[in-house]
Amino acid sequence: MNILLTGGAGYIGSHTAALLLREGHDVTLLDNLSNSDIGVLDRLHAISNREISFVQADIRETDVLERVLVGNHIDAVIHFAGLKAVGESVRLPIAYYDNNVNGTISLLRAMQATDVRTLVFSSSATVYGDPKYLPLDEKHPTGPTNPYGQTKLHIEEILRDVAASEPLWKIAILRYFNPVGAHDSGLLGENPNGIPNNLMPFVARVAAGKLPRVEIFGDDYDTADGTGVRDYIHVADLAAGHLAALGYLSRTPPGYEVFNLGTGQGYSVKEMIAAFAAASGRPIPSVVVGRRAGDIASCYADPTRARTLLGWEARLTLADMCASAWRFQSRLAES
Ligand code: NAD
Ligand code: UFG
Repeated sequence: MNILLTGGAGYIGSHTAALLLREGHDVTLLDNLSNSDIGVLDRLHAISNREISFVQADIRETDVLERVLVGNHIDAVIHFAGLKAVGESVRLPIAYYDNNVNGTISLLRAMQATDVRTLVFSSSATVYGDPKYLPLDEKHPTGPTNPYGQTKLHIEEILRDVAASEPLWKIAILRYFNPVGAHDSGLLGENPNGIPNNLMPFVARVAAGKLPRVEIFGDDYDTADGTGVRDYIHVADLAAGHLAALGYLSRTPPGYEVFNLGTGQGYSVKEMIAAFAAASGRPIPSVVVGRRAGDIASCYADPTRARTLLGWEARLTLADMCASAWRFQSRLAES
C-alpha cells in the first residue's frame, strides 16, 4: 500500500514508518517539523535501505495535501500530526484547537476531494479523563480534563460524524496509553526539546547524568506503593498496532471503530525507575515531591477489543522498553 503519515517525522510516526517499510509498504511522510527534525529521514533510510518520500508542510495546507494524496497515489492515511503537551495546551488552547482540530478538518477535506477514505487516527487515553472504573474499556465514558484531550475528543466526534455521513469511509481511532521505548537499532526514539514532561524520557536523562534526579510527583496515591500507575506500551508494539488497524480496515466494510492500544498492565513510577536502573546499570536518584496538578492515581487499558478484532496485542516487556530507551539515550550521547 501507499501510506501517507502526517506527523511521520515524530516519535510514533517514525517508528511506524520503519515498520511499514520493513513490511514492504511505500510511505510518504508529511511533517512541518515543529517537533521533529529532518535527520530522522537519514536514520529511516539507514534502517530500511529504502528511499523515503518526505514533504515539509503543515496539515492546514489543504492544497498541498491534495497534491500529495494524488501525486503519491495514496491508499490510506495515518494521522499522527498534532501538538501533544498537556500543560502547554492549558496555556495555548487556541493554538491546540487550530493545529489539531482545524488541521484534521483540512486533512479530511483533502481526502474527500481526492477520494482517499481510509484513515487511522492517533487518539489518546486522555479522552477518558478521570477513570470511573479500571481497566478502561472503549465504552468507558469520555471526559477529558485539559484542552489537549478535548482536541482529541472533538476530532474523534468529527470522524464519527464523517463516517456516518458518507458510507465510504473506513476509520480506525487508536487510543494510545503511555508510549515509551525506542527502535531496536538505537536510531529512532523520543528526544524532547528542553526538560522532558513525561516520566520515561526524564528518567533516561537522569540515568545519562544529564539531569540530577527524578522528581516523583506524589507517593500518597491509592496504589500499591503510593506512586502513580500507568499502562506503558513499547513504541514498537504501538507501531504494530497501526499495521494491524490498516489490515482490519482493508478486510472489513466501511465504518468507524475505536480501539485501546495498551498492554493491560500498570506500573508505578517507582517500578519504572527501578526497571530503568536495572536496564541501564546506572543509579537513578529520585526525590518525592508534591502531586502534579491534574494527575490521576491509576490508568490502564482493557486491550481485549484490539486483540479480538485487530488480532493485535502488545508483546514487549518493561525490560524491553527500558533497554531500548537506554540504547537510544546512549547513542544520543555519542553523536
Ligand atoms: P511527536 O510530537 O513526536 O510527533 C508529532 C509530529 O507531528 C511532529 O513531528 C510534528 O512536527 C508534527 N506536526 C505537529 N503539528 C503539525 C502540523 N500542523 N502539520 C504537520 N506536522 C505537524 O508526537 P508523538 O508522540 O509521535 O505523537 C504522535 C501522535 O500521537 C500525536 O497526535 C499525539 O497527540 C498522539 N499521542 C501521543 C502520545 C504520547 O505519549 N507520545 C499519547 C497518546 C497520543
Ligand atoms: N511522573 C513523575 N515525575 C516526572 C514525570 C512524571 O513522577 O517527572 C509521573 C506522573 O505523575 C505519572 C507518571 O509519572 O504518575 C506518568 O507521567 P507522564 O507525564 O509520563 O504520562 P501521563 O500519564 O501523565 O500522560 C501521558 C501523555 C498524555 C497522554 C497520556 C495517556 O503525556 O498526553 O499519557 O496516553 F494522554
